[in-house]
Amino acid sequence: MIGVLDMIYNFDEKINRKGTNSAKYDGLKRYFGYEDLNPLWVADMDFKTPKFINDEIIKAAENSVYGYSIDDEQTYNAIIAWQKNRHNWQIEQKDIYMINGVVPAYSACIEAFSDIEDEIIVQTPVYPPLFKSVKANNRKLIINKLKEKDGYYTMDLDDLKSKISKKTKILCLCSPHNPVGRVWSKIELEELATICIENDITIVSDEIHSDITFKKFTPLASISKKIADITITLNSAGKTFNIAGLNCAYAISKNINILDKFKLVAQKREINSVNFFGYISTKAAYQNGAEYVDELKEYLKENMKFTKDYLLKNCSDIDFLLPEATYLLWLNFRKTSLPHDEIKNKLLRESKVALNDGRSFGSNGDSYFRLNVALRKDALEVALADILRAFNSN
Ligand SMILES: Cc1ncc(COP(=O)(O)O)c(C=O)c1O
Repeated sequence: MIGVLDMIYNFDEKINRKGTNSAKYDGLKRYFGYEDLNPLWVADMDFKTPKFINDEIIKAAENSVYGYSIDDEQTYNAIIAWQKNRHNWQIEQKDIYMINGVVPAYSACIEAFSDIEDEIIVQTPVYPPLFKSVKANNRKLIINKLKEKDGYYTMDLDDLKSKISKKTKILCLCSPHNPVGRVWSKIELEELATICIENDITIVSDEIHSDITFKKFTPLASISKKIADITITLNSAGKTFNIAGLNCAYAISKNINILDKFKLVAQKREINSVNFFGYISTKAAYQNGAEYVDELKEYLKENMKFTKDYLLKNCSDIDFLLPEATYLLWLNFRKTSLPHDEIKNKLLRESKVALNDGRSFGSNGDSYFRLNVALRKDALEVALADILRAFNSN
């Protein structure tokens, strides 16, 4: 294990994000109605993108030409090596298709693998675009709620089976899961995939959080050929290296029919044109980023443990289970006995913090708010004190 003092990368460096077209900082008034909030919401990090990526971006910028970009062999090789080295998943260049974002790709999958009025299963609470996109594409949204016990979430496969019909065409898997922080075990994934194989359902596996994991992560399609045959995986280096704004992502499928169908829709929707800096940064990230990710995970783990201890020490009615993945804490305010809207108002007007509203992740997000702890430890401590002040004075 790396001690924080031995780290090469400095996650304690102060940075400014205000006035930089940052959705997290400059979108507060638009999304929350107030400007004077501490932004602890959108899933990007308040850390500088590492030098080994930034140097490549600067080098490219110094050439002062920003024309259309095209994919290259080094980018594919970097993705292939990363998936092999980090997740023991062997993929080939022909399995990969470059796209400009996981969310646009998910929307394209809906069009590619289902027809209007077909049913798509989504497991809530979950990252909102994964269910919003179903309705936006005129498909029927079927909710398979996750089961929760003492903060630990599992899949409800009996409920899932009962909801499958002839019209069910896609299961949307969020793996690891945002916001509940689960890294699904191989057994859980196998059980889920078996049901989908039996019912001829394509799985779209959103694995964008797969690198920030604190237990063994298994890419769904790496489990077996049978599972790979019904799966399309969506991923990007965006979350891991804080380059989400550079709009570079990729789809993977070992089933050529699935990948070809996806490509047709991606081309029709023009989502296969990747940002010039997207290729450069993704390549640099995957070629040089292993040590950075190891250190980042240690820092995030400490922030999460610090938050847990802080809440315990201060006898807070706010609770959460340490996540198995991501830097997002799914805070449960149930013990405060306050109505959801009152909790929200206290966070906004007394604590002056912007957290993601649990209700936006589905109806079972009531009394929950999502806290992003990818920030400097001293800034986190200030934010926690602000949150507790509003709730401990009940
Ligand atoms: C589960 C999940 N999928 C996708 C995204 C966004 O992906 P992209 O920016 O590549 O569209 C996020 C961002 O928070 C996410 O949490």
